[in-house]
Amino acid sequence: MSVHGRNKRMTTQTIRDCKSATPLVGLTAYTAPIAKIMDEHVDLILVGDSLAMTIYGLDSTLGISLDTMIQHGRAVAHSCSHACVVVDLPFGSYQESPEQAFRSASRVLQETGCQAIKLEGGQEMAETVAFLAARGVPVLGHIGLTPQSMNTLGGFKTQGRDEESAKKLLADGKAMDEAGAFATVIEGVVEPIARSVTESISIPTIGIGASQACDGQILVVDDVLGVFNEFQPKFVKRYANLRADMENAIKTFAGEVRTGAFPSEDHVFKPKA
Ligand code: KIV
Repeated sequence: MSVHGRNKRMTTQTIRDCKSATPLVGLTAYTAPIAKIMDEHVDLILVGDSLAMTIYGLDSTLGISLDTMIQHGRAVAHSCSHACVVVDLPFGSYQESPEQAFRSASRVLQETGCQAIKLEGGQEMAETVAFLAARGVPVLGHIGLTPQSMNTLGGFKTQGRDEESAKKLLADGKAMDEAGAFATVIEGVVEPIARSVTESISIPTIGIGASQACDGQILVVDDVLGVFNEFQPKFVKRYANLRADMENAIKTFAGEVRTGAFPSEDHVFKPKA
């Protein structure tokens, strides 16, 4: 159980109140069984558009639709009774206008039962975040390395390495705070800048590849469990190697079927005597 929520459900308000407290714990989840396992151990569960890569095998997060996010969001939200569940708005479902963002966000909230949405971008999304927050849509920001903008960022590049990028990050964090986001993810940012952003805003920062200076940490569950191990970013720590366990189980099953060891007498229905 989370130290923040004790027996109670984590809400966007309790997350907001966790600024500078015991670090917030976040993980992504995309399916009901995994969400059920993590629900009582984490504060925030993100149905991230990273599912485009982890579940659907795509090369980026760009190719996932709002309908697909809603399907996974519903599975996760219905499996959780403790963590605050947030669903990503996918690329193309909110950037056009605040009105388009509201239409997408209201579908996500109504059809999944989650508590909030996340969208990517800083100053350029401030008007949209304020529009949503004023209309009952809690928003988790996402600044720094924003994977939906990989084509304009020039790939998955660490942010805050030069003065211009550092200035932009500080302004982006401030914009999310002032627009009414309840917290913001900060991804792929060098430590001193992640620290400056965290110290200069009133809402919690939840880091991924942004050092211990943040108010919390989030990782992609497939990385933590060692299911997705095509490559391992520097900021990822693997706490299990489930891919090896899964492959072993599948190989053993295949071998036993081929040798006739499975099914054995224990697994066979017999007529009643
Ligand atoms: O989609 C995702 O998994 C995310 C996390 C990396 C924060 O946005």
